[in-house]
Amino acid sequence: MNLLISKMNLNDLNSIKEILTSDFDDFWNYNILKQELECNNSHFIVVKNENFEILGFAGLKIIIDEADIMNIVVKKNFRNKGIGSFLLDNLISFSKNLNLNVITLEVSEKNLTAISLYENFGFEKLGIRKNYYDNSDGFIMSKKL
Ligand SMILES: CC(C)(COP(=O)(O)OP(=O)(O)OC[C@H]1O[C@@H](n2cnc3c(N)ncnc32)[C@H](O)[C@@H]1OP(=O)(O)O)[C@@H](O)C(=O)NCCC(=O)NCCS
Repeated sequence: MNLLISKMNLNDLNSIKEILTSDFDDFWNYNILKQELECNNSHFIVVKNENFEILGFAGLKIIIDEADIMNIVVKKNFRNKGIGSFLLDNLISFSKNLNLNVITLEVSEKNLTAISLYENFGFEKLGIRKNYYDNSDGFIMSKKL
């Protein structure tokens, strides 16, 4: 599968608006994502196949010398094929190129798939945020760049 990566824009978001929660994830809705795309210190990327179908997207926010991963989502039918790793690798390279010092994120303690993805890339659990998600705590994870 040929994967094309580009900066995510509003056209990209609008093209998946109707299938955002059904085919991707219900964690973030359209309006929140739109705000993030318009935010100056946010950086969102999108991955497409050779037919320009959007297979996933991810984004981070830059806070001083730190990148905070906001979201990383792969289309349900395309999970477990390396696309999440491809997106994460790209966000890490982007942050290194900006000479940022650290990448952090928060993930539900129940999201074992995502935790395993982050650990593959050298993220370590720094602490727990109590009741960060409905009925569950969140791990704060980070990776030095
Ligand atoms: C988390 C997510 C982005 C991973 O994307 P993906 O494309 O499936 O990930 P990859 O194929 O690159 O797999 C990366 C690692 O995730 C883990 N993983 C992937 N699918 C898994 C599964 N079904 N069960 C357990 N671990 C799994 C493995 O550790 C895998 O590494 P490995 O192949 O070396 O074993 C995807 O599952 C997703 O979109 N989830 C919903 C949104 C979400 O929870 N995002 C994270 C918010 S913090």
